[in-house]
Amino acid sequence: MNKSPELNNKTILVCGGAGFIGSNFIRYIFSRYPGVKIVNFDKLTYSGNLDNNKDISKNSALDYHFVKGDIVNKKKVDAVFKKYKPDYIINFAAETHVDRSIHGASLEFIKTNIEGVFNIAEAVKAYSSVIKYVQVSTDEVHGSLPLDSKERFHEYTLFAPNVPYAATKAGGDLLCRSYFSTWKVPVVVTHCSNNYGPYQYPEKIIPFFVTRMLENKKLPLYGDGRHVRDWVYVLDHCHALELCLLKGAPGSVYHIGADNELDNTDIAKRILQYFNRNESWIEYVGDRPGHDRRYSIDSTKITEELGWRPMYAFEKAFVKTIQWYVDNPKWISRVQKRTGVFNPHIDLWRAHKLNNKSISTPSLSFQRTSNSKSVSNKK
Ligand SMILES: NC(=O)c1ccc[n+]([C@@H]2O[C@H](COP(=O)([O-])OP(=O)(O)OC[C@H]3O[C@@H](n4cnc5c(N)ncnc54)[C@H](O)[C@@H]3O)[C@@H](O)[C@H]2O)c1
Repeated sequence: MNKSPELNNKTILVCGGAGFIGSNFIRYIFSRYPGVKIVNFDKLTYSGNLDNNKDISKNSALDYHFVKGDIVNKKKVDAVFKKYKPDYIINFAAETHVDRSIHGASLEFIKTNIEGVFNIAEAVKAYSSVIKYVQVSTDEVHGSLPLDSKERFHEYTLFAPNVPYAATKAGGDLLCRSYFSTWKVPVVVTHCSNNYGPYQYPEKIIPFFVTRMLENKKLPLYGDGRHVRDWVYVLDHCHALELCLLKGAPGSVYHIGADNELDNTDIAKRILQYFNRNESWIEYVGDRPGHDRRYSIDSTKITEELGWRPMYAFEKAFVKTIQWYVDNPKWISRVQKRTGVFNPHIDLWRAHKLNNKSISTPSLSFQRTSNSKSVSNKK
């Protein structure tokens, strides 16, 4: 890839840049445009982690600024726009864990994923100097595809979210659409499928399973384990987002996927293979309510219009991803010390009585805790 001057001397406001994809994006953009200024605006929720930006913040050659703040706080959002006058905005800030949206934290999802997006759209509307705003969203807004079909999600596929996380992301996307139609706010919305790579909070399946292996614990799989996702390496996603910032047509939606459909059992088996363990280390647990069966993305539009295509081969990038977590025990232990149990939700499977419709929402504390003990999974 050639280094392009297009973002050098520009200011990008990155909301949610201390999370998984946002921190990879900041690192990726600095590697491509060393003369860019980046302002990382992040609330530092449980999944936000300043360790993810440590190398960047320590590099005095880079024009990097961190501002702790909440996109739900309109005054703070306005103040950051006023102070830094960004040319580009990209929003990764979101509540992202589906299980958490089911087990009692839905209101936080509504606030961040809808009200927060509203505040950003309002600020972009007020600052006519903004060239582009990219709202990073998800394929999950489209709901679920049948396992045995060849159907795929297109940009024109209807929204049919099945879980509160997806519904709130769809709400943010629709606000963006309306701000373009009504006020010509230069916004682009992206729908990407599941990402894998370094710096992901270990509640999501790949780092969660790797940390379970490192702790000699079994890998719990929801339901029959045949839930299919289209896996994209995080740096391929970052490249797509760069193209959307630079060349995406305002008012457009772009789908991003790597034609790499695997079910959760495949993911578990590949991780077991890495650790030289057999399938007795898999444990099937009760299914998650509203669990989407399959996502599949048609990326023709971004390929044809913006020239994007995935460049990382899955086999290699997947092993490299596992290796990153194995090589970074300090990163893992610091996250664990700060936030406690990584994914308490998987252990709540016994409460999911879908057949008699009594899906309870057990009360769980999601607050930071120094207690790193896992909730028991035994009957
Ligand atoms: N991870 C995936 O596989 C995936 C796939 C497709 C789309 N996405 C989308 O990409 C975006 C980033 O996902 P991620 O996996 O990096 O998430 P993440 O949970 O790792 O990071 C989210 C970041 O947003 C910050 N944040 C949360 N609420 C905030 C608020 N109110 N104000 C400011 N900052 C706040 C957090 O502190 C954290 O740093 C999300 O919008 C998600 O919907 C993720």
